Amino acid sequence: MAVEKRNVSVTANGQACSAEVEPRKLLVHYLRDDLGLTGTHVGCDTSQCGACTVMVDGDIVKSCTTLAVQADGSEITTVEGLGTANDLHPMQQSFWEEHGLQCGYCTPGVMIAALGLLKENPNPTEEEIREGLEGVICRCTGYQFIISAIQKAATIIQESGIDLNSQQLVGEGTHNE
Ligand code: FES
Ligand code: FES
Repeated sequence: MAVEKRNVSVTANGQACSAEVEPRKLLVHYLRDDLGLTGTHVGCDTSQCGACTVMVDGDIVKSCTTLAVQADGSEITTVEGLGTANDLHPMQQSFWEEHGLQCGYCTPGVMIAALGLLKENPNPTEEEIREGLEGVICRCTGYQFIISAIQKAATIIQESGIDLNSQQLVGEGTHNE
């Protein structure tokens, strides 16, 4: 028997988007398959690794354990909303400069989780960053370069006066001028 589909409409990275989906569809698959936002990755599918981390209405969410229908009407920020190759977000610039990635598979989720952390704590210590990133796993870097990147991003964001709690700034580009 065909499952009745539901319309899910969101604002993703500042753009209005919608798609008809089965009620059981996970948010990560909606983002990747229906909206084409493939920067959000699937690592474990069981809420362990954090590769699928996105921001929903300003909150950090693991999109592999959220149904697309639960996100209906929300504002979503994925890694694609941070910046472009020619106009990097301070978080992306800092990961680039501090070598905060190797294979890059975890990186979209780590950067979104880090922005969530900086929203709550604009100037975290190394220990606070390690605690804040407990929900995201990197298999390559050993974390030290990730921590350096987040500390650098925190400095740039503070010095630039960027307000991460503004929906205009996270989700529609907070770019390094
Ligand atoms: S894919 Fe969602 S936590 Fe691993
Ligand atoms: S850079 Fe490879 S998993 Fe983190």
